[in-house]
Amino acid sequence: MSKIIVIGSCGQIGTELVLALRNIHGSENVIAADLKDECPSILSNGPYIKMDILDRDAVRSHIINEKVEEVYLLAALLSATAEKNPDFAWRLNMEGLFTILDLAKEGHLKKVFWPSSIAVFGPTTPANQTPQHTIMEPSTVYGISKQAGERWCEYYHHKFGVDVRSIRYPGLISYKSLPGGGTTDYAVDIFYKAKAQGNFTCFLKEDTELPMMFMDDAIRGTIELMQAPPEKIHIRSAYNLAGSSFTPAELSQTIQKHLPDFKISYAPDFRQEIADSWPNSIDDSCAQKDWGWKAQFDTEAMVEVMLKNIQV
Ligand code: NAD
Ligand code: SER
Repeated sequence: MSKIIVIGSCGQIGTELVLALRNIHGSENVIAADLKDECPSILSNGPYIKMDILDRDAVRSHIINEKVEEVYLLAALLSATAEKNPDFAWRLNMEGLFTILDLAKEGHLKKVFWPSSIAVFGPTTPANQTPQHTIMEPSTVYGISKQAGERWCEYYHHKFGVDVRSIRYPGLISYKSLPGGGTTDYAVDIFYKAKAQGNFTCFLKEDTELPMMFMDDAIRGTIELMQAPPEKIHIRSAYNLAGSSFTPAELSQTIQKHLPDFKISYAPDFRQEIADSWPNSIDDSCAQKDWGWKAQFDTEAMVEVMLKNIQV
């Protein structure tokens, strides 16, 4: 069995991705790597190493010595955190990508997954059913880093034959791990507050519609993309992927079907401007056509699973 490493494994996506990959490839073949000193107990069924993606030499030695063939590079600063520290966000989000793309270019890696985001779009992008190919003028440091990353992925594929694949994830909603500093984090926090205290103050306005996706769909989509035969992958920047779109008001109404006394109020902060620059909904027909993508969770189904599984 070839070895896989997930860098940034202790975050919202990494936690669930490591578990899913270990189910497929065997626990011993999927290395979880993160900046954190300790491996979270949920990932203790397989190998864990402390790794800083910015330590290029250490990352290179580990991947080459351990004969790792597939990398999922998740370490990044997300949109809200990145706006507070733009210089470091640019460095973290770009340098790690080059370290991994160069290893693949040199023939050490067979396949790379690097996630992009709906943040690649900006205020001039058509907001409804945003197409795969359209105007992209991101206005956040996070979006700029993701758009640049997409361009480099495509470049390394065309120039050097690197098998790199990517998805423009929408806001991801999960109950096994918490989000790490994004503009869509409200859509996870709302469930904890709804169950614990019956009310929630949202940092976005009630009518701010954003594309979202339940984590199970995101993990399945990631694995399906990575398992697809290379001839089916026609987009080497990043694929649009849609789950369901909703506003905070619509999400709270769906929660109220289960918790009728739940109340929401609104106190928009700096994240409102970020959200306003992003699409309302996404056209993912290219992913459907190329490798058969289809979301399984709509908003109702996602809310039901979230409320059932969140422990407070
Ligand atoms: P997260 O913030 O929850 O997790 C990131 C992980 O990376 C953390 O465990 C952190 O400790 C680790 N990390 C940070 N700096 C590191 C370093 N120097 N070296 C090694 N590890 C480091 O993020 P996430 O939500 O899991 O997102 C993962 C990727 O997916 C990111 O690239 C993000 O931009 C992208 N993405 C996420 C979403 C979402 O809604 N979660 C949406 C679109 C794109
Ligand atoms: N969920 C992410 C964020 O809000 C989107 O990339 O930053």
